[in-house]
Amino acid sequence: MNSSLRLKRGDERGCRSVMQAMARHSAQRSSSFGSASRCVIFYPMRIGSLTLKSNLFLSPLAGYTNLPFRLVVRELGGVGLCTTDLVNARSLIERREKAFKLIETRPEDSPLAVQLFGSVPEEMRDAALVVEARGAVSVDINMGCPVKKVVKIGGGSAMMTELGKTAALVRGMVNAVKIPVTAKMRLGWDDDNLTAPDLARALEDAGVAAIFVHGRTREQGFGGTVNLAGIRKVVEAVKNIPIIGNGDVVTPQAVKKMLDDTGCAGVSIGRGAFYDPWIFKRTVEYCSVRPVAEPGRATGAALHLPPEPSFAERVRVMRRHLDLMIEIFGEELGCRMFRKVAPWYAKRFGPCHEFNKKVVQVATRTQFEEVLENYIRWRLQFLDDQGELLTRYQPAPLVASFMRDSGSIQGEHIPVPKGPVEVW
Ligand SMILES: Cc1cc2nc3c(=O)[nH]c(=O)nc-3n(C[C@H](O)[C@H](O)[C@H](O)COP(=O)(O)O)c2cc1C
Repeated sequence: MNSSLRLKRGDERGCRSVMQAMARHSAQRSSSFGSASRCVIFYPMRIGSLTLKSNLFLSPLAGYTNLPFRLVVRELGGVGLCTTDLVNARSLIERREKAFKLIETRPEDSPLAVQLFGSVPEEMRDAALVVEARGAVSVDINMGCPVKKVVKIGGGSAMMTELGKTAALVRGMVNAVKIPVTAKMRLGWDDDNLTAPDLARALEDAGVAAIFVHGRTREQGFGGTVNLAGIRKVVEAVKNIPIIGNGDVVTPQAVKKMLDDTGCAGVSIGRGAFYDPWIFKRTVEYCSVRPVAEPGRATGAALHLPPEPSFAERVRVMRRHLDLMIEIFGEELGCRMFRKVAPWYAKRFGPCHEFNKKVVQVATRTQFEEVLENYIRWRLQFLDDQGELLTRYQPAPLVASFMRDSGSIQGEHIPVPKGPVEVW
C-alpha cells in the first residue's frame, strides 16, 4: 500500500505541470482569441497518470454504452475514453453476474473507465479495487447530485456535512487504487443551489483526477438548455484538474462551443453519440490537433465540417453493431436488445416508420436482414435520380440546446430514460 501511495503522489506531481499548462492555455484560449479567430485545439489529454488520444469522451448511458456500442464507437475513431454504464458497487463486490457483464471488456475496448454507484465508502473502495484488477484505466464515481435541497436556515451546514462525507468516500477510493478516480455530477439541485463548484473543489482536494459536469440541474432533468456559464464556474473553481463538459452535444460545432465558452478541458458526449457514433471522428476532423508541448498556439486551420455519413455507411455500421450485439449477448438477447438501438440509427435515415415498425419485432439476424432489405426498397420512393434523399425528406439538422435560437423548434426528440435520473 505504501509503495502504491508513493507512486500515486509521484504521478500527481508529474502531471501537475501538464494540467497547469492546460489550464493556462484554456484561459488563454477563451481570453486572447477573438470569437472570429478562436480555434479549438485538441491535446493528447492527461487525467492523472493517464494520457488519452483525444479530449472527447463517451458518457455513460445505462442500457446503451455496453461493450458492442463502445467497440462501434472506437472502430469509427476519435474518442479518447469510453465509460461503462453505471455499475452498482455492492453488486460488483458480491460478484453478481449482471454487474460483471456490465464491465465486460476486451483489449480493443481500451482505454475504459468503469462508473460506480454507491454510498457506502468501504463498498465503493472495494469495488474500485475489483475494477482496477479487471483492467479499467480509471474509475468514475456517479455523484449525481448529493446535496439535498437547502431551503431552511442551517441548510448550509447540512451541505458541508454532505460534502465532507462525499470527500471522505472519495479519499478512501483514491488511497486504495493506483488508477485515477474521477467524478461525474450535475450543476446542482436547482438554479438557486448550484453546488457543483464547491463540490468540485472539495473533490479536487480529496484527490479526484478529473470531473465530468452535466450542465443541468437536477430540477431540469433532461430538458431545458444546458448552462455553459454554470460549467464555466466549475472550471474556475478548481485549481489543476481537468473539467469535462457534458450535455446536449450533438454536433462538432457544439463541442467547439462548449470548449470555447466554458474553458473546459474536454467534452463528454452521450446521446449525441447514439444519434451519430461518427461524432468523435468528425469533431477531430473539424477541429485542429496540436500537441500539449505547444500550448497557446492556434493552428489557424479553417474549420471544415465533414459531411454527415451516407445512408450506406449508416447501414454498414448498424449491421456491425448488431453483429457485435449477437457475438457478445447471443442471437436471441442481442436481437432483442437491438430493437431499441436500431431506431437511433434510423433517426437519420429520412422517412423511417416502416423500418421502426418492423425492427422492434426482430428475433434473429435473418429477420433483421429481411426488415432492412424491405425498408431499403420502400425508401426508394423518397430518393432523387442520384439516390440521395429528396430535400423535403431530409432530417432536420441536429442543434444543441445551447445553440438554438430561443424561438426555434427542435427537430429531434431526445428520449429521457426511465430510472434514477436524479443521480445522472
Ligand atoms: C438513457 C440514458 C442513460 C444514462 N445513464 C447514465 C449513467 O449510467 N450514468 C451517468 O452518470 N449518467 C447517465 N446518463 C446521463 C448521461 O451520461 C449524460 O450526462 C446526459 O445524458 C447529458 O449528456 P448527453 O446530452 O450528451 O446525453 C444517462 C442518460 C440517458 C439519456
